[in-house]
Amino acid sequence: MRTPIAIELTKTSKLSSVDFNNIPFGRVFSDHMYVADYNGKEWINPRIVPFGHFMIHPANLALHYGQSIFEGMKAAKQHDGKPVLIRPEMHSRRLNASAVRMCMPEFPEDMFLDALHTLLAIDREWIPTAEGSALYIRPYMFATGEYIGVQASDVYRMIIFSGPVGPYYNKPVKLLAEEKYVRAARGGVGEAKTSGNYAASLLPAKLAKEKGFDQVLWLDAQEFKYVQEVGTMNIFFVIGDKIVTPSTDGAILRGITRESIIDLLKDQGYEVEKRPVSIEELVEAYHNGSFKEAFGTGTAAWVAHVAEIQYKDTKMILPPVEERKIGQLAYDLLKGVRLGTLPDKHNWVVPVRELQIPV
Ligand SMILES: Cc1ncc(COP(=O)(O)O)c(C=O)c1O
Repeated sequence: MRTPIAIELTKTSKLSSVDFNNIPFGRVFSDHMYVADYNGKEWINPRIVPFGHFMIHPANLALHYGQSIFEGMKAAKQHDGKPVLIRPEMHSRRLNASAVRMCMPEFPEDMFLDALHTLLAIDREWIPTAEGSALYIRPYMFATGEYIGVQASDVYRMIIFSGPVGPYYNKPVKLLAEEKYVRAARGGVGEAKTSGNYAASLLPAKLAKEKGFDQVLWLDAQEFKYVQEVGTMNIFFVIGDKIVTPSTDGAILRGITRESIIDLLKDQGYEVEKRPVSIEELVEAYHNGSFKEAFGTGTAAWVAHVAEIQYKDTKMILPPVEERKIGQLAYDLLKGVRLGTLPDKHNWVVPVRELQIPV
């Protein structure tokens, strides 16, 4: 039998100091966090403690060699106020796929779900209700080995914390197709949700922002020819009457929202083609008038319309949002399932367990 989660509740909740109508993304944190340690054999000492700093050794292996993985997921309140998680087991599986690639131990799915439900039972008042807002949940794992030398750590820590967030983008995004830097190459770690991928994206993202773009549209590392994904989103295009999204080729993160949108559109009778999409195909479609829509999908933004894509000298300005049939449908379907106003045909929505928390 598993060790129960030890619980230490905060004595000073920050809840009343938060302006839930004006939440900056990623800067407000709920009262508690979950922590467990891997001792080389098994995960031990699961506990929920007040959110706060912890000590770290100067030779911490994760800081030096990057053994660090994470997930991003959300809890939301449905239209009747019921708190729910969205596809938590998929996040557990992806965390473990990242762990395998980064030579780290897997974290048992039942422990992951217990941790989430217990944490949310304690911090459920932190789940915001305003339109487009949610409780963002950040599970992550990192090496805690305390020595220098490029090798896999034998000990690790798993932490889960959360924080309320508002809408990620408040208008359609402008993308720059990146021609110099790459995010990930096949055979690398692009499919893993590991910190280094995001570190590698920072400089190109900064340069793109200086030119007036919101995000980089990544092209493949071999030929700079095929579209991969965007910042923290997968990407979909509507070309003529076809919906297409790049096939995951080992260098693209397997987005859970991407999977959900493909299924939701399929339920409505739309087929989404998963295949290599070249940037030249988009340029050609733009010139012949068949490039109708582009939208990104991801946990942070749900579905974000793309306003324009710049590739070399071509600025592809896409039709106004009012004309976006598919992207809007994708957004509405996902929102309906999340809020409980549309049927949850695939059982993605998991009500937060009603737990009695000992005080
Ligand atoms: C690089 C990258 N691509 C795509 C996504 C979208 O994935 P998901 O829909 O699982 O959030 C994310 C966000 O997690 C991401 O960081």
